[in-house]
Amino acid sequence: MAIDLDLKVTRVFESNMLSTKPVVANKGGARSSKSYSLAQLFVLQLVTGTNFKMLITRKHLPSLRMTAMKTVIDLLQEYGLYEKKNHNMTDRTYRHGSNVLVFTSIDDPEKMKSAEWTHVWMEEANEFTYEDFMSLKLRMSAKRVDGQQNRMYLSYNPTDMYGWIPEKIETDENVDVIHSTYKDNGFLTPEYVKTLTDLEERDPEYYAVYTLGVYAKRTSTIYTRWSVVPTLMSEYTAEVFGVDFGFNNPMSLTRVRFSARGIALKQEVYQSGLTTGDLIQIMREIPDLKKQPVYCDSAEPDRIEELFRAGFNAFPADKDVENGIDYIKRRDIFITEDSPDIIKEIKAYKWQVDRAGNPTDKPLKFMDHAMDSMRYAVYTHGQKYGLRLFGEKKPSAPTAGRKRRERTSEFDNY
Ligand SMILES: Nc1ncnc2c1ncn2[C@@H]1O[C@H](COP(=O)(O)OP(=O)(O)OP(=O)(O)O)[C@@H](O)[C@H]1O
Ligand SMILES: [Mg+2]
Repeated sequence: MAIDLDLKVTRVFESNMLSTKPVVANKGGARSSKSYSLAQLFVLQLVTGTNFKMLITRKHLPSLRMTAMKTVIDLLQEYGLYEKKNHNMTDRTYRHGSNVLVFTSIDDPEKMKSAEWTHVWMEEANEFTYEDFMSLKLRMSAKRVDGQQNRMYLSYNPTDMYGWIPEKIETDENVDVIHSTYKDNGFLTPEYVKTLTDLEERDPEYYAVYTLGVYAKRTSTIYTRWSVVPTLMSEYTAEVFGVDFGFNNPMSLTRVRFSARGIALKQEVYQSGLTTGDLIQIMREIPDLKKQPVYCDSAEPDRIEELFRAGFNAFPADKDVENGIDYIKRRDIFITEDSPDIIKEIKAYKWQVDRAGNPTDKPLKFMDHAMDSMRYAVYTHGQKYGLRLFGEKKPSAPTAGRKRRERTSEFDNY
């Protein structure tokens, strides 16, 4: 079947298509079109190849579902190629003719090792270890009828100067390194481009990594006591939510649980282009949200009022940045694995530096939307309820099921 696709592509797509090396490393700054281009390339190969066995993988499955897997399925739909009968959602496979595309994470080694692959894409490759990479590389021996070489594609930001990618991958002559920046992506808004170019003045390290797409010497990040967990802890003293409003920037809604172990975070919403009305629609679908306090960016009283009128217990947050960060830093933070943007932000969240390169006491305002929404919730609620949230005194009374009434003070309902 001849397929006539009118793809709108960037240089990153073209360079990947033209590459002849067995490993193609897509190293680049933020939003340089790495992921989108590889999604296009995998869709194109899927619908034009013969006997292709293709794998798209990311360290954790929930993140994979929300990013690369979603992009690929959306593209198949956009190009009019998607057929429901070819999509096995349980197995996370999509078939087209003699080809199969599998989505899985390293958490499912059986599935990963059950086949030999013709194409592998490791999305956010620096989340993986070198051992993960090698065990996949050993499985690149599927036979091909087109006589071409099997190929592995990696995509990542150059965040880790001393990691396995710069040391073992980029230095290998059998690896093609395709470097890209926002300049390669003509589909970005001028606002986002400005966010990236403004970094030059504000933070040389992040300007290097996210704007120029090159490694930089690392300065200290703000939160260090955090880890990724499969789910939120089931025993907790309180559950609250935080909102950082956005439209051009992502709207961020984070669920927070307090317990004797620390603070647990789950990404509920992290998406650009949402109005307050859209957010309300989504919030209505989230179980238990109406019963719990929602601490919001206090710079936007009208939007807080809108949430309140829609029936949510929306309150202005205490936005004291320094004390808020200080408060959170003292606890262990557990982030659920289906929170890719919280994980991405917490890795990147760092102190602004002064002209001499010394850290100040202000965080860098860049990729900080989930960091803000979670801080609003943790710090504002924490101020009010103190140590008992961490099981260090009597836990606070359960809040569920209380009748909602007129708001006389921010915390009256709790
Ligand atoms: N060929 C394209 N056609 C239309 N839109 C595109 C195209 N390429 C990229 N974009 C847009 O640019 C956005 C950023 O691209 P993408 O997510 O691929 O960047 P990235 O290099 O993976 O960034 P990051 O390093 O932050 O993961 C996409 O979400 C998409 O909206
Ligand atoms: Mg990407």
